[in-house]
Amino acid sequence: MYCLNPQRPLDPALLRPYLHPMAILPIIETPDPRLRVISKPVETFDAELKQLVADMFETMYDAPGIGLAAIQVGVPKRILVIDLQEPDPEDEEGKKVIRDPRVFINPVFSDESEEHSVYSEGCLSVPEQYADVTRPAEVTVDWQDEDGKHHQERMTGLMATCIQHEHDHLEGILFIDHLSRLKREMVLKKLAKLRKAA
Ligand code: NI
Repeated sequence: MYCLNPQRPLDPALLRPYLHPMAILPIIETPDPRLRVISKPVETFDAELKQLVADMFETMYDAPGIGLAAIQVGVPKRILVIDLQEPDPEDEEGKKVIRDPRVFINPVFSDESEEHSVYSEGCLSVPEQYADVTRPAEVTVDWQDEDGKHHQERMTGLMATCIQHEHDHLEGILFIDHLSRLKREMVLKKLAKLRKAA
């Protein structure tokens, strides 16, 4: 996912990762059919998985984005990386962000709240397009970490929105699928225009 607020875009300079032996992977974009694939559960928690997760973080920070699913780099596995990079309240200029990288493997949702929230979402696979999407405001998530250890947490706020957006990717769903047909066609038309101009 992109930064949800286009008025406050993420500054790529602030997001430059530290030097690690990681790779920036190419992000696939709609209408690439791989984005419609249902991703498979991770069963082996090995060094190869850790490398993929590290590369996904590198790719997400470079984009820059706040969330990325493995299928967006062409790997059909149930892996999400998220770092909301929210503004540091200590920083008066409002430029510094707090790094909080989180990885969710084989995430499962339950107990979605009846209350909904609306965010202006964007997606690295639907570049530079934003639209309001309505989702449950809270959701409980069970997941595994890179070592296969199980966790559970009640997600709220931006994290709840972001993890639902990323989880959709595991099911072959894009945020534009949540829009009316008219709105979706508008977004895709704008994207086609943008690509033509590039
Ligand atoms: Ni996305």
